[in-house]
Amino acid sequence: MRLGDCHNFHDFRALARQRLPGPIFNYIDGGADDEVTLRQNTQSFNRVDLVPNILRGVADVDLGVTVMGERLAVPFYLSPTALQRLFHPEGERATAAAAARLGTMFGVSSLGTVAMGDLARKHPGVPQVYQFYFHKDRGLNRAMLQSAKECGIKTMMLTVDSITGGNRERDLRTGFAIPFRLTLGGMAQFAIKPAWALRYLMNEKFSLPQLDAHVDMKGSTISIGRYFTEMLDPAMDWDDVAAMVADWGGTFCLKGVMSVEDARRAADIGCKGIVLSNHGGRQLDGSRTAFDQLDEVVQAVGDRLDVMIDGGIQRGTHVLKALSLGAKAVGLGRAYLFPLAAAGQAGIDRAMDLMIAELTRDMRLMGAASVADLGRSSLRFR
Ligand code: LAC
Repeated sequence: MRLGDCHNFHDFRALARQRLPGPIFNYIDGGADDEVTLRQNTQSFNRVDLVPNILRGVADVDLGVTVMGERLAVPFYLSPTALQRLFHPEGERATAAAAARLGTMFGVSSLGTVAMGDLARKHPGVPQVYQFYFHKDRGLNRAMLQSAKECGIKTMMLTVDSITGGNRERDLRTGFAIPFRLTLGGMAQFAIKPAWALRYLMNEKFSLPQLDAHVDMKGSTISIGRYFTEMLDPAMDWDDVAAMVADWGGTFCLKGVMSVEDARRAADIGCKGIVLSNHGGRQLDGSRTAFDQLDEVVQAVGDRLDVMIDGGIQRGTHVLKALSLGAKAVGLGRAYLFPLAAAGQAGIDRAMDLMIAELTRDMRLMGAASVADLGRSSLRFR
């Protein structure tokens, strides 16, 4: 299978699976517990149907949206995700360049493998969010916040659904851990993907530049689940976040909000945006999906802050359904990570071009020339 054979999410996933060592593929692909929420994330879009309008003159379609004060040329963005240089040596550099090409927003994770400052310098006009993990070590939190300010990052995106590690049994089985090192045993495990291993060894050494200056892993490796549980602070509360919003001073967004009550509190403490998210089904299995929560949250707080969603989005029609219910934009995760793993930036570019082609076609078929033409009347619940 080659890049030119990839026509949808499933094709990119298959190509990524072909190219990646099993533990890395399963780290991206997997979810928590029985992966019920992981599956529901995509299935929930099938519980509503689009109701098209006709004869609206839709030769020109404008996909642009405005989110948290930023104009995006497309209604989707590349969500912050961890460890991207493990998936492909171009890693976050490919993601940032792809976002620049699309005219959209991307995120860099606290667990990113390229320094956020390098990306900000390379792509000064591109909206970049910093995905912040709130650590037990308050000194570390202050230092991370400060370096994000110094890098000129405009939007802070605090992840609030990962205060303890999700139960990712695939990672327990494969032993996937960070910092990533190839031990002799590891080499054997990875030898069945020699092309990946060679590229990995030939490229710059694995590092976590957002954390390296502050966290000493003491030469040991740790699973992502254990990292969350040992390093992140389950005591974090609304007062901590309100203080952080004040400290930050710029645009602040909470990622991982699900309830109406929390959405209201986020607006009360001055958040400009929230992302409804269950972390790609990787944290609380059995959690409701972001799409299923979207309608009630938008109705409650849509006039006070921008509501975004992520989780399970694989198709242009999924994006249109979310926009119809009032999402300002949607975040993609695996939908660009599998293409990244499959072929670096060329993979992301192809996947995103396909997404734009789907969206443009689907907008025309819906009779919508711009996102403003979509609304609650564009769909029906079954
Ligand atoms: C994960 C974290 C790192 O889901 O965002 O693996």
